[in-house]
Amino acid sequence: MKATAKKSYRNKIKNIKGKGKSKEELLKEIEELQQRIDDLEKLSNKPQNIKEETEQQYPELLEEPVTTCTLKKTVVNEQILREINNPQKATKRLFEIKGNYEKICSIIPNALIIADEKGKIIFWNKAAEKIFGYTSEEALNNDLFDILIPSEYHQFFKEGFNRFKDTGEGPIIGKPSEFIAKKKNGNNFPIEITLSAIEVDKKWHSVAIIRDISERKRIEKSLIRTHQKLEGMLNNAVNTLVKIIELRDSYTSGHQKRVSELAVAIARKMELNEKEVKLIKIAALVHDIGKAGIPSEILNKPSKLTELEFNLIQAHPQAGYNILKEVNFPWPVEEIILQHHERIDGSGYPRRLKDDEIMVEARIIAVADVVDAMSSHRPYRPALGIKKALEEISQNRDILYDPKVADTCLKLFRKKKFKF
Ligand SMILES: [Fe+2]
Repeated sequence: MKATAKKSYRNKIKNIKGKGKSKEELLKEIEELQQRIDDLEKLSNKPQNIKEETEQQYPELLEEPVTTCTLKKTVVNEQILREINNPQKATKRLFEIKGNYEKICSIIPNALIIADEKGKIIFWNKAAEKIFGYTSEEALNNDLFDILIPSEYHQFFKEGFNRFKDTGEGPIIGKPSEFIAKKKNGNNFPIEITLSAIEVDKKWHSVAIIRDISERKRIEKSLIRTHQKLEGMLNNAVNTLVKIIELRDSYTSGHQKRVSELAVAIARKMELNEKEVKLIKIAALVHDIGKAGIPSEILNKPSKLTELEFNLIQAHPQAGYNILKEVNFPWPVEEIILQHHERIDGSGYPRRLKDDEIMVEARIIAVADVVDAMSSHRPYRPALGIKKALEEISQNRDILYDPKVADTCLKLFRKKKFKF
């Protein structure tokens, strides 16, 4: 019994189940168990009646499975628990763990702030001092909102904090969110905050990890300004190209703008994203740029074209591609222009692409191009009218034209009363 009891107590030390216990409670438990082992060892030299009395005092222990334990919410894993086999070693080990965590908290670049359920700050690391300007002594025991949040956001934060405390939920819980905070000197600045909760001494506490994102915001603003400037320059360049094309070919005047308007309307109705819509707008505005290489006598010829002349006109998508690939657009504008006369049955030109081989942007511009070309006046024929143009789209949907694009276009004119 004594040998079994000692073994059980030693196992108990190795297998302490300490979930939710504080460091002090754990150490006390280890010390008690060690004391019991020492008492049992002394029993071998004591009279029988004392031995029995002691055995009754310390009953046989049941083996319990090893789990993890928590020292003020510092999770100690199974391996660490097994290392703790005497009180001295346990104490040393626990101080090592505590020391390591304190070191980690002091070197992380983000502010780590812990507040109790009333919002009073109980932990404030080195980075928090640097970011907010308060020393630990100044920050500890202060109200989290009073010293960190600008007064205009107090109400919002307090409501969110209380909701988080009561329900464990909230829009900023567990995911980085951007807010405005206040420094000791009163300056507001942008922060990224991740909020979560822990239990300290069996009480709810909130943990905030905060990063100063002033520099990131400054770079973002600068990038947005540069992007807007570049986009302005690009739009000017595209508008200049449109004017040059239209100066050479009066019949194309307005055609590209109308195609662009209709193509954008179709793209929006098909719920393409804004990036795709912008690409369609630009590509449609310059889709006939390749005609710049065709003699204006051919473009404006009022009679039927010869085969050679027709071949020259059919080369305009490739010519447009060749011109625009030198521009180095940030989007594949030149590829869309190369494809705007392709048809989904493979009967188009120049590469006889089929179905999904043709980019959706090009399939949309193709339909808009046909509708405007047929409904407008051409050098070799009068305008056929919008009715004829829509009949062409309707009759050749799913043959020449993407059915979804064709249906969207027809709906725009027939139900939404689209007008050029
Ligand atoms: Fe064209």
